[in-house]
Amino acid sequence: MATTILVGAQWGDEGKGKIIDVLTDRHDIVVRYAGGNNAGHTVELGPEKFVLHLIPSGILRRGKVCVIGNGVVVDPVALVKEIDELEDRGVAVGHGGGAKLLLSETAHLVLPYHRSLDEQREAAKGSGRIGTTKRGIGPAYSDKAARTGLRVIDLMKPERFSEKLRQKVEENNEILKAFGAQPLSFEEINASYLEAGKRLRPFVANTVVYLHEALKKRKSVLFEGAQGTFLDIDHGTYPYVTSSNTTAGGACTGSGVPPHRMDTVVGVVKAYTTRVGEGPLPTEDNMIGDLLHGLGREFGATTGRPRRCGWFDAVAVRYAAMINGIDQLAVTNLDGLDTVAKIKMCVAYKAGGRTYETIPNDLDVLKQCQPVYIEFDGWLGDTSGAKDFDDLPKKARGYLKKLAALTGTKMSIVSIGPRREQTIVL
Ligand code: IMP
Repeated sequence: MATTILVGAQWGDEGKGKIIDVLTDRHDIVVRYAGGNNAGHTVELGPEKFVLHLIPSGILRRGKVCVIGNGVVVDPVALVKEIDELEDRGVAVGHGGGAKLLLSETAHLVLPYHRSLDEQREAAKGSGRIGTTKRGIGPAYSDKAARTGLRVIDLMKPERFSEKLRQKVEENNEILKAFGAQPLSFEEINASYLEAGKRLRPFVANTVVYLHEALKKRKSVLFEGAQGTFLDIDHGTYPYVTSSNTTAGGACTGSGVPPHRMDTVVGVVKAYTTRVGEGPLPTEDNMIGDLLHGLGREFGATTGRPRRCGWFDAVAVRYAAMINGIDQLAVTNLDGLDTVAKIKMCVAYKAGGRTYETIPNDLDVLKQCQPVYIEFDGWLGDTSGAKDFDDLPKKARGYLKKLAALTGTKMSIVSIGPRREQTIVL
C-alpha cells in the first residue's frame, strides 16, 4: 500500500479511528487533511482508550510520522492540550523515539471568536440549527474562503500575528455585539495563542514539500479522513454538513499531494447508520437507536451526544462509493447487530410516487423519502470473538455479502469490536 486515502462513507463516526489504526501498521506516514477538532477518533489499546481530535491516531505507534495537513483548521491551544495529554499518558510526541508530529505552516487557525460565532449563529437559527460541534469550524473555514484567516505561519511571527489578531478581534467583537454576545479580549487571546505558538514551533513545517520528498523515497502514506461523505460541504446533505471536503478529493487539496499519486481509497461504513446533529437521515429508526444506546453504544466521541441511529442505507453508500472511488470497504460495528432479530437494509427510496436509486440533492425531496427495505433474519449470536470471515455466523456473512453487492464495493475489512485484534482482514 503506497498511498491510501481512508474516508467515512456515511455521516461520520463510522469507526474510522480503529481502521486507521489497523492500516497505520502498513504505512510510514499518516496525514490528516480536513476538518478540525470537531472530529473524535477513538482507539482502544488493551485497557487504554484514546480519543484523538486533531492528531492522527498514528501517533500511538512508534516510528510513524503524523502530519496535520494544510486543509485542517487548527485550534493551537487545543492541539497543545492534546499533545500534553498524550505525553502525560506516556505517548511521546516528536521526540524520544516515539512517533513524530508535523504541522502544516499553511493550515488555518481556529480562534475563540470562531467558536463564539458558531454558538451565536446556531442559537439564532433556532429549530433550523445544524447541530454543530460548536468548535468554530464553520466560521474558521469562512475566514479561509474570505481570505481573511490567520494561519500557523502567522503564529510563527508573533508581531505580525498580534497585529492581524487585533484587527480580527475588533471586527468580530462588533459582530458578536450585534448578536448580544460578550465581546472577547484581544490581550487574553493574544497571550494564550502566542504561548501555544511557542510550544508548536518545533512541529511546524512545509508539509507539502515533506510529503513529496517522502513519496520520492517510496514511503507509504495514509490519508485519514475525518467526518463522512454526507457531511462534505459539496457532496453532503447541505446545509447540514461540515465546512470542509471530507471526501477523497479533499485528501489532495488538503495535503498538496496530486490525484495521480493516490493508489487506493478505503471507505469505512458501520453495519448500520448513525448521524449526530440535525439533517436528513432516511433510515432513522428509534427501535435500533434505543437498542444501541441501551448497550452503551453510539454516544459522540467529541460532544458525548447520543447519535441518531438507523438501518444500513445502501443507496447512500453506493453514492459515496461513486464520489470517493472506493476500492475497498471496511465494515465496522457488525457486533452492534448481534442481538437484533430482524435486520433491515435500505435498497431504494420512494417519494411522491417515484423510486430513487441514488440520494436526491433536493433536501425537501430527501426529507420525504421513505426507505424501501429488504429484511434479514438476525444471526443472534456473539460475533466479537471471530478470527476470520468463516468464523462469523452464516447469516452475518450473508448480510455482509449483500451489503457489498448492493453498494458495488469489495469488502476488505470487517470489524467486530473496538480492539485491534477484533479485526478480520479479508
Ligand atoms: P461542525 O463540523 O462542528 O460545523 O458541525 C457540522 C455538522 O457535522 C454537525 O451535524 C456535526 O454533528 C457534524 N460533525 C462534525 N464533526 C463530526 C464528526 O467527527 N463525526 C460526526 N459528525 C460530525
